[in-house]
Amino acid sequence: MKVRLKVKRHDPEAHGGQASRYSDYTIDVPEHITILDALLEVRDYHDGSLAFRYSCRSAICGSCGMRVDGRGRLTCKTKVTDLVKTEGQEILVEPMGNMPVIKDLVTDMEMYWSKMDQVTPWLQPADPGPERENLVSHEAMLDLAQTMGCIHCGVCVSDCPVLEIDKSFIAPAALAKAHRFVDDPRDAKTKERLEELSAVKGGIWDCTRCNMCVEVCPKDVRPMDRIMQLRELAVKAGVASGTGARHGEAFVDSVQRLGRLDEMRLLPASVGLWNAPRLLSEMPGALRMLRAGKLPWNHALPWRKPIAGIKHVRRLFDRARREKKEASS
Ligand code: SF4
Ligand code: SF4
Ligand code: FES
Repeated sequence: MKVRLKVKRHDPEAHGGQASRYSDYTIDVPEHITILDALLEVRDYHDGSLAFRYSCRSAICGSCGMRVDGRGRLTCKTKVTDLVKTEGQEILVEPMGNMPVIKDLVTDMEMYWSKMDQVTPWLQPADPGPERENLVSHEAMLDLAQTMGCIHCGVCVSDCPVLEIDKSFIAPAALAKAHRFVDDPRDAKTKERLEELSAVKGGIWDCTRCNMCVEVCPKDVRPMDRIMQLRELAVKAGVASGTGARHGEAFVDSVQRLGRLDEMRLLPASVGLWNAPRLLSEMPGALRMLRAGKLPWNHALPWRKPIAGIKHVRRLFDRARREKKEASS
């Protein structure tokens, strides 16, 4: 079949504003090939200057992550026919996002690894440890096995929208790794880890739950679910703190009281009334929301009423609390 590839090129040594451009290639390849195979065909027979990273070609080493047709993918696991529905349809191949590009499709993973370092990615067992083995039950390890399947491809980090605006966010892969140690029964620093992950700028409360990392992860690690588990564990351990944790509480309180989101109170409740400098710094954004009709001013009136079906909402809250109690008893 004929495949058209539009590949983003980046030459760090180019001068005169030509550092980035696109190259088009049309290749004739068998239907079963992957995007990585197609790139190898280009490099071997059409353009030897094209740079990209790969190794195992079996979805194990994690080195062939790229952005294909606008989303992060492991290129050795993505078949051309997954994307091309009609012969001659173009496929756009770009380097992963949120990371600097070294050349063409090769990204600099330094930021990825420094975030991994930030979560102390090793076991910190009790001292003294066991005399012989540190035995753990099969059940206790089951939940961890999914997170341990991470191959560090960086695809989730590439497509995380929070990282686009806040480089301090620890990001999905490292937070999933943090969960792996927080939930490990052999680790003795659970509370300290949760305290740190909750209080640090860019920690567990900064995820917007967009689900993108879950959708793109080629190994079903489901990083967002791990972050939500960390939040739950932080609340249980009584160490949930900071703006993000207060934001979550204000959200729940608002829906329970009124049956809807009380945007006017969300900001002061999240930031804290005592934090005047932060509140003032958020004012331009709040004014923009007001102008766009996203902060209905009448919601701030003291006599605002709950929605008509509030009793159903409160019933849901009661049920959730009951189920949680039953599950923990
Ligand atoms: S769910 Fe959270 S961590 Fe995952 S991509 Fe969205 S914002 Fe990032
Ligand atoms: S969590 Fe998934 S997408 Fe993210 S680095 Fe690990 S394997 Fe790749
Ligand atoms: S080449 Fe190893 S994961 Fe794709």
